[in-house]
Amino acid sequence: MSVKVLSDDQRKKEDNSDDSFFYSEPRLVNHLDQSFRRRLTNLYRERIEEDSIILDLMSSWTSHLPDEVVYKRVIGHGLNKIELECNKRLDSHWVQDLNVSQKLPLEDSSIDVCLMVAAWQYLQYPEDIAAELKRIIKPNGLLMISFSNRAFWTKAPRIWREGTDIDRMKYIENVLISQAWAHPECISEVTEASSLLNILGIKGDPFFSVVSVNS
Ligand SMILES: C[S@@+](CC[C@H](N)C(=O)[O-])C[C@H]1O[C@@H](n2cnc3c(N)ncnc32)[C@H](O)[C@@H]1O
Repeated sequence: MSVKVLSDDQRKKEDNSDDSFFYSEPRLVNHLDQSFRRRLTNLYRERIEEDSIILDLMSSWTSHLPDEVVYKRVIGHGLNKIELECNKRLDSHWVQDLNVSQKLPLEDSSIDVCLMVAAWQYLQYPEDIAAELKRIIKPNGLLMISFSNRAFWTKAPRIWREGTDIDRMKYIENVLISQAWAHPECISEVTEASSLLNILGIKGDPFFSVVSVNS
């Protein structure tokens, strides 16, 4: 049983059709720009040890992990089978709609690091997912939740749609703390765009990451 943080109203999406229907066609695209992805891969390079068992929750065809590092195992989850089959980093994967069922088919304390990228923003029952992640991540293991200011807005619950970027970080933090996660580290950064865009004063996608240790 998880401690509830959101009201029923805050869980509502504009498009209430099945998420599996929305994700039925594979999207083999980058959801975030190169500046964001470079920052994310660097964060993973700095924080994730080589012998880790990694879960990429709500993944697609890419996991943004550094190419040069070989991890013990990378398990992927998502809603589109073809996207997951195209992801060369994954040793195994499964498909599950987390807005239908929040129970994860993984053993207690079996994961060193869980990654979520542009993902939390679609969860209608984040408290149950945070509680499940607490169960499956090993003591001292890491949860790394990263996002920017983009989303498929019709598929994002009201709590995500109506907040600012900082509200969203606070919201993730609140949910994690409510499920007995340690106070997370919140990273909020402006990223540099490619050199030409930079000259024009255009920035890259803003980078936000909430990192918590399972203490
Ligand atoms: C914007 S994509 C991000 C994919 C990937 N993490 C990345 O960095 O490119 C959002 C992903 O969340 C997953 N997703 C969305 N709604 C979901 C749901 N209800 N249950 C499970 N996964 C979901 C989909 O598989 C989709 O690929």
